Amino acid sequence: MRRPLWIKHAAQLVTVAGGKLPRTGTGMSELGLIEDGSVWIENGEIKAVGTTAGLEAEFGEWEEDADVFEATGHLVTPGLIDPHTHFVYGGSREKEFEMRLEGVAYMDIMNAGGGIHATARMTREATEEELYRQAERRLDSFLRHGVTTVEGKSGYGMDLETELKQLYVMKHLNEQHPVDIVPTFMGAHAVPPEYKGREDEFVSLVINEMIPAVASEKLAVYNDVFCEVGVYTPEQSRRILEAGKKHGLVPKIHADEIEPYGGAELAAEVGAISAEHLLKASGGGIRRMAEAGVIACLLPATALYLREEAARGREMIDAGVPVAISTDCNPGSSPTTSMPLVMNLACISLRMTPAEALTASTINAACAIGIQDKAGSIEPGKQADLVMWNVENYQELQYLFGVNHVGAVWKRGEKVI
Ligand code: NIG
Ligand code: FE
Repeated sequence: MRRPLWIKHAAQLVTVAGGKLPRTGTGMSELGLIEDGSVWIENGEIKAVGTTAGLEAEFGEWEEDADVFEATGHLVTPGLIDPHTHFVYGGSREKEFEMRLEGVAYMDIMNAGGGIHATARMTREATEEELYRQAERRLDSFLRHGVTTVEGKSGYGMDLETELKQLYVMKHLNEQHPVDIVPTFMGAHAVPPEYKGREDEFVSLVINEMIPAVASEKLAVYNDVFCEVGVYTPEQSRRILEAGKKHGLVPKIHADEIEPYGGAELAAEVGAISAEHLLKASGGGIRRMAEAGVIACLLPATALYLREEAARGREMIDAGVPVAISTDCNPGSSPTTSMPLVMNLACISLRMTPAEALTASTINAACAIGIQDKAGSIEPGKQADLVMWNVENYQELQYLFGVNHVGAVWKRGEKVI
């Protein structure tokens, strides 16, 4: 039995408590705030949440048996959840960053054999051990930025061996590292050069060999595809996502990122849990997502980094789409591990409020990767993943932008930062 942990006197406790469904509309502004808040934790699980006075009445007589942490003057929130990353990869692409600054387009670099293809070459060459070490450093950085769970995608192999290598790295890191990892298979992340002009053959390989292999080893929960002009058509994407469903993999989709392509509509049609990017999603697509309850996973750091107009986050929330936000951490379009920066950008470029940005990186992010039963809010029964910030309230967290305000992080009640 571990000693209980009592975090008390938080100036503001953002619980986001209440229900396990993704928040929509005005529900995204309900943070379940408690002033002078307290959390009582036993064996890594949240046992009670309330005001410090309330918990003193309930638990005061056991104070001596507990580890007490004074959060006086600080904001405390659920651990942040990053529901869309590509954090397992080999090498780095800073030279392409320079090329893009000089005016070369992201897709042109990729079509000339750089971009995702360059990272695939470096990932194919790296040993599993090397990939593990590099990915571990990125997870450490996520944790320092208050992130306690990430989704992670394969997709820098685009051959069975390397796809499995990336997924094994995630499996082993999930066992060893404090940050929890939810794995997604993304074999159709680009068309590998050896299949150029034979895209349908590669789609068949993904469907007939890769998906069954990944599913039989239970290496992924989700199945994602880059549905984009010049990459996979909506029809090819549909085939891949439907095939994944037959093997128990839930669809996700990189949709309407560079060009409008009907990706949002497809997400609704195949019953995807989430659609990602959506910079160019149509009004009709947004309506279909709202009707079908597809979570929009918006990536404002990627839009900024590609110098693209951000997704219409405000319009999506007002249309009733549940919105989550994410770093998209990857070596090309968003090499960041900072969810706090993403929350800042959600306010500035997606026109979300500070409260909505927090909901989008906690409970809605949890729903986007199916872990809402155990994470995403501070309420009894959930695992004790918490962050204490060096600010007094949640508005200040979003207002003082581009700065890491993390003061402490607990993962399952263990202080890891
Ligand atoms: O989500 N859009 C496709 N995939 C990634 C970028 C991958 C890369 O550039 O390495 C994304 O932005
Ligand atoms: Fe992505």
